[in-house]
Amino acid sequence: MTAPVLGIETSCDETAAALVSQDGTVLSSVVASQVKEHAPYGGIVPELASRAHMKNVRWVVEAALREADVRLVDVEGIAVTQGPGLMGALLVGLPFAKGVALASGLPLVGVNHLHGHLLSPFLRQRHEEPVDVGFPFVALLASGGHTALYRVSSWRDVELLGQTRDDAAGEAFDKAAKLLGLGYPGGPVIDRLAAQGDPSAVAFPVPIASKKQIEFSFSGLKTALAYHVRRNGPPEGDQAMADLCASFQRSVVESLARKAVQACALQDTPRLVLVGGVAANRGLRARAQELCSKVGVDLVVPSLRYCTDNAAMIAFAGVHRLAQGENDGLDFEAYSRDPDRRRGKF
Ligand code: KG4
Ligand code: ZN
Repeated sequence: MTAPVLGIETSCDETAAALVSQDGTVLSSVVASQVKEHAPYGGIVPELASRAHMKNVRWVVEAALREADVRLVDVEGIAVTQGPGLMGALLVGLPFAKGVALASGLPLVGVNHLHGHLLSPFLRQRHEEPVDVGFPFVALLASGGHTALYRVSSWRDVELLGQTRDDAAGEAFDKAAKLLGLGYPGGPVIDRLAAQGDPSAVAFPVPIASKKQIEFSFSGLKTALAYHVRRNGPPEGDQAMADLCASFQRSVVESLARKAVQACALQDTPRLVLVGGVAANRGLRARAQELCSKVGVDLVVPSLRYCTDNAAMIAFAGVHRLAQGENDGLDFEAYSRDPDRRRGKF
């Protein structure tokens, strides 16, 4: 199999399409963000997401083909996000992909969005060297909807090691930003402000730090922030806001980085990858690198553009299914929640 795969992603608030070769080279990756549509509401409005996907999906796919200079007849197959995600959003990309598959006769596979994130460190631009992560590795997936640690043993074999009991890390950033009146999405704003702040200004707890379990919990931290603001009032001035953001971010980052490194030790696996939107966080990238260097763990993180939702990661997950001759045909359904998998195959 040498031809590129067309990936289509519409699970949340990004309409995306990409063409990716078998070795992870991204020929094109087009992302139409809906931040402007959702920002006035301080979070994602599912109905608006579906409408925006409807408006954007066709031109996004056409733009991806054009940018890669690839015709549909020269594509190996199509990979589309099947779930998890917003049902009304998935129900735009999935039938669109089925329509393209029906018209072109190309094979079509439904890809798990989390599988896409887990393989995102392997993606590279044309001029970059191939990324050799090496199996098995431990993956910290931290996004707006999920926060979990996995052991990834091959392109398709994964084991869930532990996950959040409540909020996802990205959700914690988004809720904190909303509380502080910083807008949506919260992660990038808090990341930017935190860089100017003092992380020791406010002593927030580091969730589940002392416990041996591989799990996370962020709802208590959100409550601690809400109490802090109630007691002290909203931060006055830019420096006070930056200090509060830095302190909050420090707790989230410590929890994520420490548990990830702990999981590597427990799994006796000296390779860690950080994936998902929160992997774009500069504080997390730096702290994880610090902890990994101390204990001799190799850290790999995707380029920033492949941390947040994109279709290149979906295409690349599809590469590994299509290469085995798989074709889901036209009769598969979208799912909004990740199927319960402790150990399994994507
Ligand atoms: O992976 P993603 O694009 O979508 C999901 O699958 O959820 O992740 C989006 C999440 C949002 O919660 C956003 O606030 C967070 O990732 N995020 C960040 C950063 N960039 C995006 N969180 C912390 N720091 C960032 N720089
Ligand atoms: Zn995602």
